[in-house]
Amino acid sequence: MKVEDIRKVAVIGAGSMGSQIVEVLSRVAGYEAHMVDLNEEVLSQGMRGIDERLERHFVSKDRMSAEEKKATMGRIKCGTSIAGAVKDADFVMEAVVENLGVKKEIFGSLHESAPPHVVLASNTSALNITEMGAATGRPDKVVGMHFFNPVAVMALVEVVRGAHTSDETVDFTCELARHLGKEPVVCRDVSYGFLANRVYGRMTGEAVQMVWERVAPPAEIDRAVKLGYGLPMGPLELADMVASWGLSASSEEDRMRELGPDGGRLHPLVRAMVRAGYTGGRGKKGIYDFYSDVLSRW
Ligand code: NAI
Repeated sequence: MKVEDIRKVAVIGAGSMGSQIVEVLSRVAGYEAHMVDLNEEVLSQGMRGIDERLERHFVSKDRMSAEEKKATMGRIKCGTSIAGAVKDADFVMEAVVENLGVKKEIFGSLHESAPPHVVLASNTSALNITEMGAATGRPDKVVGMHFFNPVAVMALVEVVRGAHTSDETVDFTCELARHLGKEPVVCRDVSYGFLANRVYGRMTGEAVQMVWERVAPPAEIDRAVKLGYGLPMGPLELADMVASWGLSASSEEDRMRELGPDGGRLHPLVRAMVRAGYTGGRGKKGIYDFYSDVLSRW
């Protein structure tokens, strides 16, 4: 399969990342994109998000005409059947919850229903590609294709190679990323958090420890990192924005398995925050609020 031959793609998972990936596949590459999730409500929510983003970031800024928006939306189809969406797809992307058991089950179904030559990619942030490949009869065609959030803005795509992923699959995935206007960086799947998140995770962990030690308030730590290293956002405000604290808590078991207690165990401050409901994410409180509401009084 060559990237120029792709006409139809399927994306499994219509949540935050799945719906953004579908949007890019339709808007940038002009693919017919089928989005699959468990029920109509999630799918409608995904479609509403795409519509709003296209309006806010493109149409209202004269970067896209109303007709182009209509055509982009028109290429996106929704459904609850994996088999129906992937049976004649030229490329399949999985973007369901970050849980290896769920992903392996999905990869088994993808292998059963997608044409045998088709590449099956996962948007996982950290889980093992080799294990997902082992749930299929085509481990050479299973690959990580890790987009960053917000997908329309961030250039990086990590292309993650499992033990049996072929060179052709890696090349195809890099080429597809470039076709979508992204910059692929290849790594092996032996690194928990792959490349960028592994480095950034250490920085965030150190920033959390500094808040715990009361070295300085979160805003001051972020300000130092931004000014010192020219970053657009500090690690703590970014984690508050993308709900990293809740995600860290829910992935503790995976980290413990991969990294052992030293690298895997949840920081006591993050555990306390998440228990108190400070998970971060849209409309939710995070470490900035936990510092002012709770930690500064403890
Ligand atoms: P999300 O929770 O917003 O969406 C996941 C979707 O998967 C939900 O809509 C859920 O209903 C659906 N789902 C669960 N089981 C399913 C099944 N059996 N069949 C069909 N759909 C099913 O999660 P999000 O944030 O979109 O993450 C998806 C993947 O992308 C995860 O692997 C995550 O680690 C990765 N990722 C997330 C980033 C982020 O900033 N949120 C960034 C980069 C990667």
